[in-house]
Amino acid sequence: MSKHAPLIPAGEDDITPETPVKGTRRGVPTAVQAKRKPRLASVPLLRIFVPPEALAPAITGEESMPAGDVPAVAVVPLARAADVSPFELPGSRLRVSAGSASRGWYAPTISGAPTTTRQAEILNTGIIGAPTSFRGVVNGRDNLSSTSISHDAPTAYNQQPRELTSPNVLILGTVGAGKSSFTKTVMVIRPLLLNKHRAVVFDKKDQGGVGEYTAVVQRMGGTHLLFNPDGSGTRLNLLDPEIVRGTGLRGQGALVNAVARIVRDDTPSSVWERKATRYALQLAFQSFEDGRVPTPSDLLPFLGRVPSDKELSKKAADRFHQAGLTIQYALDDLLEDFAGTFDGETSKDVDLSQKLTTFDVSQLPDDGPAVPTVMAIGNMWLMGRLRQERGFITNVVYEEGWHMIGGPSSRLVKSNQKLSRSLGISNVFVMHKGTDIPPDSPGYTVVQEAQTIYAYRQDRDEDARWVTQTFNFAPDTQEVLMNLRPGNCVFKFGSNPETHMQHIRSQWEAEVTDTDEAMEAGASAA
Ligand SMILES: Nc1ncnc2c1ncn2[C@@H]1O[C@H](COP(=O)(O)OP(=O)(O)OP(=O)(O)O)[C@@H](O)[C@H]1O
Ligand SMILES: [Mg+2]
Repeated sequence: MSKHAPLIPAGEDDITPETPVKGTRRGVPTAVQAKRKPRLASVPLLRIFVPPEALAPAITGEESMPAGDVPAVAVVPLARAADVSPFELPGSRLRVSAGSASRGWYAPTISGAPTTTRQAEILNTGIIGAPTSFRGVVNGRDNLSSTSISHDAPTAYNQQPRELTSPNVLILGTVGAGKSSFTKTVMVIRPLLLNKHRAVVFDKKDQGGVGEYTAVVQRMGGTHLLFNPDGSGTRLNLLDPEIVRGTGLRGQGALVNAVARIVRDDTPSSVWERKATRYALQLAFQSFEDGRVPTPSDLLPFLGRVPSDKELSKKAADRFHQAGLTIQYALDDLLEDFAGTFDGETSKDVDLSQKLTTFDVSQLPDDGPAVPTVMAIGNMWLMGRLRQERGFITNVVYEEGWHMIGGPSSRLVKSNQKLSRSLGISNVFVMHKGTDIPPDSPGYTVVQEAQTIYAYRQDRDEDARWVTQTFNFAPDTQEVLMNLRPGNCVFKFGSNPETHMQHIRSQWEAEVTDTDEAMEAGASAA
């Protein structure tokens, strides 16, 4: 190559210093002229294929310079772009033809905001990557990068290598922060569209005389199991073998003892009581062998019976008898108030044939044994069913989750934890604050083990601190948690850094999931 060869290859659209250019000022090409437009630009229809930058003139700052000011001697062969105040420029050209715009041709409608390089540096400190992959279910938008966040705990759990080691999910936040709207859309409605996914919800919150998930069931289709205190709703037979499928008398005994524990203010059954329960169950099932399934009131007379073949001493026989009676009294207490709900044949609609099942406990009293008993029986029924029908992923949602993991049935949840992964269960606990759960409760570890966290607004300092410390958020996230608006949360999965997310709903999702109806009705009546 010759020493004087041009650095820019001479192409059709290129200008080289050797090329004389018509219209140059004193033979020096300006950048406007130096950048010749491609040929296509002059063909009316084909002009649209020319990239906009090829059409735009390069700005040099010399445009307004009078011809006489141009230096007499050409020092630089090509004029270079210079800094020009953006306020002096006309802005980008718009394609103003409404017809073209309606057919999708580029027609910017928003005029740009002038900025300086220094300002832009501060505003765009770096290119921010999307916080999640596209797998799973769309959750919302990352407030920092404005990219979408997709996550589904079972999907992340099933990745190779695993992105999570626990598919459990925790959703925390103060009253009205947007937890239920999020749970309904991201944990129920959207996953139901996926193959082999289903959802079971324990619905605690009343909305117009039914549980708040009723609208979701109506929209998506599914089974709505409404429990009424007067027994007019769904019934679960505590002794139904379908409920403890696959676990036999052992499972049946464990369930009766768990319910007795709930009724007796968390007093666990002794060894004698467990034995007496098992013996009574054996007798009850034997006596109904050829007929219907026994119910709790059928079991009561057998509790307190003493096995004659065991040759127990009088003292031991007495103890066995008394142990049976304590369980009998506990069940009797439950049936006194809730016979319609727990005594009698299980309602026919309790099955898992639909993709969505809700246990609506919104009408049962907040205090007392009814809600935790339904949850305990429902949980056992679910495990039994799933043991028989593998291959599904089931999101089990506990709204007001502390009832399950902070209350008397927490032991049952904990013991089911090990099973839940092999049965394809992702437990979703929704609650106001982590400090609701006593640290010595077995449910506390269940919460701590969750690896997908959606933390909505926390009003109190100590609650925000609890979330920040328990899930290893950055220290300044504590303040973010206290200032979140409804529909916004801090999301974290696995050991990834947390992200500030806005949950986005479609219009019909918002209609189905909003809980303000009563307030709005009150406001319009006022
Ligand atoms: N993604 C969202 N975008 C905008 N507004 C929202 C969003 N999610 C919820 N909201 C608003 O917040 C209201 C309360 O939401 P939601 O019932 O989900 O709160 P919550 O945290 O479950 O309350 P509670 O603790 O009382 O059960 C909704 O009715 C709606 O008006
Ligand atoms: Mg709610």
